This record gives sequence, structure tokens and C-alpha cells, in this order.
Amino acid sequence: MKSYNISVLAGDGTGKEVTDEAVKVLKTVGEKYSINFNFEPALIGGCAYDKYKTPLPDETLNIAKQSDAVLLGAVGDWKYDSLPPELRPERALLGIRKELNLFANLRPAVVYPELTSLSPLKENIVSGTDIMIIRELTGDVYFGTPKGIEVRNSEKYAFNNMCYYESEIIRIAHVAFKVAMARNKKLCSVDKANVLDVSRLWRETVAMVSKEYPEVELTNMYVDNAAMQLIKNPKQFDVILTGNIFGDILSDEASVLSGSLGLLPSASLSDSKPAMYEPIHGSAPDLKGKNIVNPIATILSAAMILKYSFNLNFEHDCIVDAVRKTLKAGFRTNDIAQTGMVTVGTDKMGNIICDKVLQD
Ligand code: IPM
Ligand code: MG
Repeated sequence: MKSYNISVLAGDGTGKEVTDEAVKVLKTVGEKYSINFNFEPALIGGCAYDKYKTPLPDETLNIAKQSDAVLLGAVGDWKYDSLPPELRPERALLGIRKELNLFANLRPAVVYPELTSLSPLKENIVSGTDIMIIRELTGDVYFGTPKGIEVRNSEKYAFNNMCYYESEIIRIAHVAFKVAMARNKKLCSVDKANVLDVSRLWRETVAMVSKEYPEVELTNMYVDNAAMQLIKNPKQFDVILTGNIFGDILSDEASVLSGSLGLLPSASLSDSKPAMYEPIHGSAPDLKGKNIVNPIATILSAAMILKYSFNLNFEHDCIVDAVRKTLKAGFRTNDIAQTGMVTVGTDKMGNIICDKVLQD
């Protein structure tokens, strides 16, 4: 019997509620297809700070590093807003990305046919949208040095450094071209090469890597235009490749197309084990304990574990199908409630998806 260890970093706010449902779905898949999933919990974010005075304790990092994949809920709570930056829950996210070398962030933005009317855009513009955003996650202005705030010329002065090594661009470009090969073979690389030197190297390097993937049609787009095109005509995109900061912004923009943040999963991959999987939404501390948040983003993140870490493509599809069937059957959580449909709580949504997994 195949056996896998998954570390579960539920985090803060509603993180535990959504990871509980994802674990439930994975267990159901395991029972059905005779796969043994072991789950090991660990603290991250504000709850880790409360116990260890650091948002990313060594113990958590060790558990994560020794596992085959990491499932993360979400971090953050307003009660930590007054902490110094290095102790804030968000810092744990940046820390674990760097520690596990999770340089490739995959953020799919899919519009489900049942939910097109929930999108803020017109149905004819969004329907059928299926974009994969590949965001570089361990470089760029997020991690560049020098950085800081100091006094220069008798006033405060702040600076960060946008920078990429060619090797960092090459490795993320390979991921993007491979993902494009498995989809519709269209890759749009997004940069700001009309202004930034970093982007000129980015564009040149992506073009060089593209020679190894002659079947993939490569286009380039400036980030300001990409922001506009995403809402004007999202269906033109198949795979988008971009750097850390542009990817942060564009992936949030793309996420609203689907109608709810509660639907969108993500995977953060490295060259080695383990990868990390998380919903793209935050910890929503105001909704904690109310059993109303949508677990679908985390359940789909768990599905991505099966595909990208364990190569269990069939079982991945089984979860995605179960989610689609659940939506088709008319079940909704609060964030995607529609008249004539049945609104259910977080745990009920998880249970129904488990039922659909078993029915397959
Ligand atoms: C994200 C978030 C993080 C980021 C924050 C919380 C540090 O916005 O995962 O997109 O900027 O990467
Ligand atoms: Mg973000």
C-alpha cells in the first residue's frame, strides 16, 4: 500500500476549519483507493508566535521538511498587527517559502460554469476562463538586498532591490513551459521590460528557454497591460509566467474572476521535496468558528498535492470531479450563495464532497 506523510500547518483564523475538511477528503480518497495518508500537525503564524514567540518555529520547519508534502491553511490575525515585522504571522509564509526553496507558485484561476453569475465581470467575458498563473516565489523585490529604511539627506529614505539571477529565471521558465505543454501550449510572460533592467533579463532569458519548447507559443506582455487584459478578455490567457511581485498582484486580480476567493487553490513547488499547498485566501479571523467559510480552495489544494507531489493524477481528478459535482448539485457555502441553491456550512460542504468522491 502506498503511504505518504503530509504535514498540516493549519495556521490562524479559519485555517483549521478548512484544513480539517481537506484532510477529510484526502482520507476518503485514501480509503477508496487504498492509499495511506499520514497527517502531522504543526504550528505556524500567530498561533506559533503565542507558543514559541516566533511565527515559524524550528520544530515546524523540521516537521515540514521531513514530510512528503505540506498542506497550509492560512496565517494572520489582527491581534498580531502591532508586532514588529519579523514576528508577524505573514513573515512565516515568506520564511517557509525560502526555507523549502519553493520557487514556483502555481495559481490556477478557473471560472466554474455554475458560478459565472457570481463573477463581477459580465458572464460572456468570464465564462470558460481557465488560467494558470506561474509566479516566481523566492526572488525579486521580496527578497532582494540591500533593503531598509534610513536617513539620507536629512530625511527618511526607504529602499528595496528588485533583482533576479539568470538561473532563477531559467528554472521558473522551465516549470512554466512544462505546465504549458500539459495544457493549451500558450505561455504569456509578463514583465516591465520597457522600464526595468530586471525585466529585460527576464524577457531575454524566457526567450532563450523557449527554444527548448518549440510547440509552446510564447508571447510577452507588460504588466500594466496584463492587468487590463485580465479583466477585458481573460480567455486569451492559458499560462501566465511572471516574477514575484507582479505575480502577487496579478494572481489576486485573476482570483476575483471566479466569483470567490474561497474557490482557488495553489501549489508552491521546489526542485526537491516537499512542496507546499495552500488556498490563496487569507485566514479570515472574523469568520473563525462560525462554520461558514468555503473549504473548496483548500480541498482543491489537497487535490494538487496528489497531482504535483505524488503523481496520483487519477485521484486528483477524482477530487476535482467531486467538487464540480457538488457545485452542479446545487450546494453552496455562504460566499457563493445563490438563490434556489442550498447553502451549507464548512463541514457539510466537506462531507458532501467526500460523498461525491465515494460515489464516483
Ligand atoms: C500571497 C500573499 C503573501 C505574498 C503575503 C501574505 C506575504 O499576499 O501569498 O500572495 O505577498 O506573497
Ligand atoms: Mg498576495
